[in-house]
Amino acid sequence: MDCIQKVTPHIDWVGGSDRRLALFENMFPLENGVTYNAYVILDEKTALVDTVDNAIRQQFFENLHAALGARPLDYLVINHMEPDHCAHIGDICRIWPGVKIVGNQKTFQMVRQFYQMDLEGRVLEMKEGAELPLGRHNLRFHMAPMVHWPEVMFTYETTEGILFSADAFGTFGGFTGNLFSDELDYQALYMDESRRYYTNIVGKYGPQVIAALGKLSGQNISLICPLHGPILRGGDVSILMEKYMRWASYRPEKPGVVLAYASMYGNTEAVVSRLAGLLSQKGIHDLQMYDVSKTHYSVIIARAFQYSHLVLASPTYNMHLYQAMETLVDDMANLNLQNRGVAIIGNGSWAPTAHTLLQKKVEAMKNMSLVAQPLVIRSAIRPEQEPELEDLAERLAVSVKREATPIIG
Ligand code: FEO
Repeated sequence: MDCIQKVTPHIDWVGGSDRRLALFENMFPLENGVTYNAYVILDEKTALVDTVDNAIRQQFFENLHAALGARPLDYLVINHMEPDHCAHIGDICRIWPGVKIVGNQKTFQMVRQFYQMDLEGRVLEMKEGAELPLGRHNLRFHMAPMVHWPEVMFTYETTEGILFSADAFGTFGGFTGNLFSDELDYQALYMDESRRYYTNIVGKYGPQVIAALGKLSGQNISLICPLHGPILRGGDVSILMEKYMRWASYRPEKPGVVLAYASMYGNTEAVVSRLAGLLSQKGIHDLQMYDVSKTHYSVIIARAFQYSHLVLASPTYNMHLYQAMETLVDDMANLNLQNRGVAIIGNGSWAPTAHTLLQKKVEAMKNMSLVAQPLVIRSAIRPEQEPELEDLAERLAVSVKREATPIIG
């Protein structure tokens, strides 16, 4: 049975949800699955905007046939060549032999790499700003390299102001029946996952995100149709645009502290717990605490993009960082996290090195400022170190309060 939904009277959503998938990209844990969105535009010409992952093949083709009815498919627009969106290009060419594939030079290079297809006579190669009229609807193409792969492009429908945004503005989470963001509480249900999706998938490419969104400035955007998650409508369009500009420029959303610790026997954890208590006593109440062995690093990465300050605490392990902490901090660096205040705590029973390793990694990142010298503990904190911990808490609290006003504004 088809499960198509109307986006507008002449545009259908023909995607689906995969609620069985445990790991997105075989890496990121999913609590509630993910959607793969695809869209059919029915005009004098018909166009399919992207396909879907192989996991929902049957649902997708039932949807697509139901949307088209007896009409042929004239165009397949490929905004993104990652296989979760392009698994069915070959099938579509077999079912509708007259279909033209719309992409850019890099799109077709990737089609050939993934599928070794003969594209002779099928290709409509678009450049920045090129347009494709369908009848009443008109598509304009904007290149969006590295949002998330180099071949990505946005398709902007100029008549109704609809942006088909590829991976941008997507989120984890399967659908519960509601297609549009204003039919549900997006802030409560999707914002954390939207942030986790953006920061982990596209977070490295902030300047490219800003450049791509800049091409749309001044354009009326009534709907944003991403490849994952709800279609953004109403006030959610501007809310998510603002979030994207903030995330892409590595500016925190709010003042507060993410405390991420590794601890084998509870001694490092105890120091971080004590520090968190001191921060609360000093008026810093927006605190997020994570055991890096328990919480997937992608969750902590998203919080690190959200908050202004970080505490990183780790034991020394084989003269290196505890592995889960190393993974987290290296990923922060890889994703270009910047502009944060940081406090470091290192533990070691006979040759503590965790604090210097953390310090080196943090100092190698852009505009990361240590609020104090690292606190070093040997096995467990001693009572005479209490003033040092109190001093660290005070410096951290002052730094958070100093940043609070401009960040909120
Ligand atoms: Fe959902 Fe970059 O693919």
